[in-house]
Amino acid sequence: MSETEGATTDGARTTPPGPDGLPLLGETLSFMRGGLDWGTELREEYGDVVAFDAFGREFVAVYDPDIVEEVLVARNDEFRKGEFESAAGDAIAPGGLIFEEGDAWRRDRRLLQPAFTPDRIRSFADVMVETTAESVADWGDGATVDLADVCPRLTLDVLTRTLLDIELDGEGGDVVRAAAGAITDRANAGTMALPDWLPTPNKRRFERASADLDDLLADLVAERRGDGPDGHDDLLSTLLDAEYPDGSRMDEERVRDQLVTFLFAGHETTSLALTFALWLVAGDDDVRQGLDAEYETVLGDADPTFADLPALELTDAVVSEALRLYPPVYLLYRQPVRDTTLGGYAVPEDTTLLLGTYAVHHDARWWDEPEAFRPGRWLDDDGDRPEYAYFPFGGGPRHCIGMRFARMELRLALATILQRCRFDRVSDDLDLDPGATLDVGSVELHVEKR
Ligand code: HEM
Repeated sequence: MSETEGATTDGARTTPPGPDGLPLLGETLSFMRGGLDWGTELREEYGDVVAFDAFGREFVAVYDPDIVEEVLVARNDEFRKGEFESAAGDAIAPGGLIFEEGDAWRRDRRLLQPAFTPDRIRSFADVMVETTAESVADWGDGATVDLADVCPRLTLDVLTRTLLDIELDGEGGDVVRAAAGAITDRANAGTMALPDWLPTPNKRRFERASADLDDLLADLVAERRGDGPDGHDDLLSTLLDAEYPDGSRMDEERVRDQLVTFLFAGHETTSLALTFALWLVAGDDDVRQGLDAEYETVLGDADPTFADLPALELTDAVVSEALRLYPPVYLLYRQPVRDTTLGGYAVPEDTTLLLGTYAVHHDARWWDEPEAFRPGRWLDDDGDRPEYAYFPFGGGPRHCIGMRFARMELRLALATILQRCRFDRVSDDLDLDPGATLDVGSVELHVEKR
């Protein structure tokens, strides 16, 4: 599609401008390569609303924070997750909160929300710190740690010990992490667009990992059911015992889909954010000194607690800045429920919208020196910007249900780790590999214990 075609749907509003792409393929190859800078390039060339074809579908990418807010918040009932995202959801967990639509989503979000109240999240603080301290105790002084290895273990342990109140053994942890890896590959744009019957190595790996995960989950559910209804007050018990308003409960398949969803969404994204934050701090002596001073003043020799969080301002700013530079969920998908308009352009009902989190977080109109790691921008008055120039957790009714949990875990884990270790980068660059999330290869740091 191009501006010069001047296509109109109602004689008044044109389709958005965009690249013509290759005949038949459109922008498929650029999309599949998943280049993060591709979004910025599209925006710079065509503007804040860009149309292109890929995988035989029409896409419209949105880079204007006000239009992002319109889609997620003000006009959220006019947009659903849509066909492109449900192609992955159908394979992974169609009955899980991330992929559900309409009334089924509303019913389950309401049922699960009580597991995420501020009081409930606060009660997890000490376990988060203890679990982090245990993990760090295994890192040898003078050794090299690979964050791609240690962070997913840590965040999965935190998730299972808190929200699910279970202790996974080593084998169980391996099964969940293997499934998470297979899910992120299965849900990358290229694999999502292929017909289901086409076997690919990603799909085969995913099917094997899913089968192992299903066996593990069936055992966990059976064990909890054996415990009876008393003694647990967590997300797993909510999934098994909570009643919908009509008195019914979730069926087995939906419990399985919700567990897969929370096991994946609840540890993979937080692990990536922690990885990016530690790597960024390891490369910045000034920030590191500022954090040392913060820990000395606020914590002394004690471990951080929930009560310390408001005073850990620089730690909080580091988390915000890491999530800006490397948002683990780097774009969001939506589809209009009927033909509509956005930014004055026509957007037909079968269009897949891409809300470009990464590109908006790197837009020089909103961020001074957008590529620089500057946690200080969150502490000083850094000028006005639209609210949705920053949306690492999405927005509106479908914003991340685990946001408070994740932000608390990230701050407590960072403080616990940095109190105990100094780091030097072994990996000078990040090998970013955008799939379902902004995955990254090996990220090695040299550890000096303090
Ligand atoms: C740094 C960590 C995290 C990031 C960056 C993140 C990001 C996001 C984003 C952007 C969305 C919205 C997706 C959309 O609108 O299409 C989302 C939804 C979701 N997140 Fe997170 N998330 C994180 C941690 C967590 C945690 C810890 C949990 C669970 C314990 C979780 C569970 C979910 C679920 C279930 C949804 C779907 C919510 C719904 O549609 O109602 N996330 N997350």
